[in-house]
Amino acid sequence: MTMKIAVLPGDGIGTEIVEQAVRVLNVLDLKFEMESALVGGAAYEAHGHPLPDGTLNLAKAADAILFGAVGDWKYDKLDRPLRPEQAILGLRKHLGLFANFRPAICYEQLVGASSLKPELIAGLDILIIRELTGDIYFGQPRGRRVATDGHFPGAEEAFDTMRYSKPEIERIAHVAFQAARKRSKKVTSVDKANVLETFQFWKDVVTEVHAQYPDVELQHMYVDNAAMQLVKAPKAFDVVVTGNMFGDILSDEASMLTGSIGMLPSASLNAKNQGLYEPSHGSAPDIAGKGIANPLATILSAAMMLRFSLQQPEAADRIESAVQAVLATGYRTPDIWSAGTLKVGTREMGDAVVAAITGKTITKAITKS
Ligand code: IPM
Ligand code: MG
Repeated sequence: MTMKIAVLPGDGIGTEIVEQAVRVLNVLDLKFEMESALVGGAAYEAHGHPLPDGTLNLAKAADAILFGAVGDWKYDKLDRPLRPEQAILGLRKHLGLFANFRPAICYEQLVGASSLKPELIAGLDILIIRELTGDIYFGQPRGRRVATDGHFPGAEEAFDTMRYSKPEIERIAHVAFQAARKRSKKVTSVDKANVLETFQFWKDVVTEVHAQYPDVELQHMYVDNAAMQLVKAPKAFDVVVTGNMFGDILSDEASMLTGSIGMLPSASLNAKNQGLYEPSHGSAPDIAGKGIANPLATILSAAMMLRFSLQQPEAADRIESAVQAVLATGYRTPDIWSAGTLKVGTREMGDAVVAAITGKTITKAITKS
């Protein structure tokens, strides 16, 4: 069976980094059917909508989606439904991509890139599992109105709704406990049960599901404390499971612990294992088109795609080993460069990974470009 991949590069550096990931996929001797479509600001420019029907249908029909990044400051003034971010929110919603995996791994060669002391983060390997289709992100009702109560009745106000249903919490809790079984069997569930009804419920339901996983240790932590512990003693965490909004914030914090957000892949899966794979970083419009963006997070996202949605674990291993080999050789894009290493651009980094996979010497790939 041919594996169908929808390729959605998006905006900013999205096109450059996805191009390198596609090159890497193409040297694996596997049969893929890849089709590209516009998404985000690029789709808005061409079709007047950040997630046109054609793009959504392509994504729905695919086994997996390789996604770049969306967004640019120039769209900040558009009505909310037309902003590039709506494309990613729409894909999550329409495909039911409720389980978001955001690993924060500190690569041995990049320990110096973190703003934390090396001893705090050397060997760091955390997996943040963020619920991705519920919470205050999608809760209804939301909007603007004139207040009828509160501190300023009669004043204009805005509101959102934080909510989680029991099945939504149960399914993400199962994902977290099962992931923990393949790692060090420890889950930290992050909530705000001391203040929010939604997160007291979250805590209760996670505790209930935990009864089915007696071999996994469960710890509960308030989100403010979790934010603090993440910079104080990040290695005390293994699998972290939390809701959509807390997960948005904590995953950015966790990624920065590694000092190299340009290295971190992510996966968003639905119940059918269909997945969207994207780098954890954004579209970086300030460096778009300069050929200096780090393609490794996207290349590593392609590896996650092979492992989770396409059942090709050996191919995933080949990509991950190639990335390690390239780092060991000293190749660095500017975001992870340090004295004594070799600064290369987006394409050369792609060349180097391709060369490492195909067994050619990396130096040859560099001179070729
Ligand atoms: C993320 C991003 C998105 C989110 C935005 C772009 C809608 O910050 O994937 O973390 O808030 O989920
Ligand atoms: Mg975010």
